[in-house]
Amino acid sequence: MAGLARQLGAPSGLRGRLVAAMLNRANRNTVAQAVSALSLPRDAVVADVGFGGGIGLELLLDEVAGSGRVHGAELSETMLASAARRYRGDIKVGRLHLHNASMTRLPLPDDCLDGLITINTIYFVADLGGAVAEFARVVKGTGRVVIGLGDPTAMQAAPYTAHGFRIRPVSEVIDELGTVGLTVERDVRVGDGIAAVHLLVAAPRARTSGPGQIPGVPRGPH
Ligand SMILES: C[S@@+](CC[C@H](N)C(=O)[O-])C[C@H]1O[C@@H](n2cnc3c(N)ncnc32)[C@H](O)[C@@H]1O
Repeated sequence: MAGLARQLGAPSGLRGRLVAAMLNRANRNTVAQAVSALSLPRDAVVADVGFGGGIGLELLLDEVAGSGRVHGAELSETMLASAARRYRGDIKVGRLHLHNASMTRLPLPDDCLDGLITINTIYFVADLGGAVAEFARVVKGTGRVVIGLGDPTAMQAAPYTAHGFRIRPVSEVIDELGTVGLTVERDVRVGDGIAAVHLLVAAPRARTSGPGQIPGVPRGPH
């Protein structure tokens, strides 16, 4: 169980690739619903943070049409290498950019994304405040952030989570998002019963500052 927990948090080597293939199958529907919850415009620029086996990269690449672009951030060298192989065509034409980076320090400029998803990742980060501050920084005023996490009760019951998972109440995650100016508009449940995954769909509150901006008036159409 400790080994599985380690691989889920940092997939590595052959075992990491096997775990990632399992995650791609198990999480496909959840990730698809997260992508759909972004309600992306045409030519969207998006990111999957902690993409693991890459199912989110694949679904985002399918979703963004025209001149759209996808960024993937990961800490696992094995996952980065697998994605670099699998999506080499998209990388070559500039549709996909992979980054060896933590969610607490994204190598992206401010206000550059129409959407960001991060699914089953926040259990592995100590500094959740730092991570959500990064999400708030990189997403446009009209964009959306979707954080996917297992229901805490179901997660507590899973034998592998005793080995280093940080299981936070959903309300704590919502509060952290609020602290950095991201308001949770919806908690979409995926799956059945108590084990249903939470997809927290968050939008930036109006950011006000600088001449010419009227306090309280949103920057975008949302
Ligand atoms: C359980 S997997 C989830 C993969 C995928 N998002 C999914 O839902 O199938 C967690 C992934 O998050 C990555 N990860 C862990 N900590 C991270 C961090 N601080 N920044 C970026 N990625 C991280 C791990 O390397 C791993 O690939």
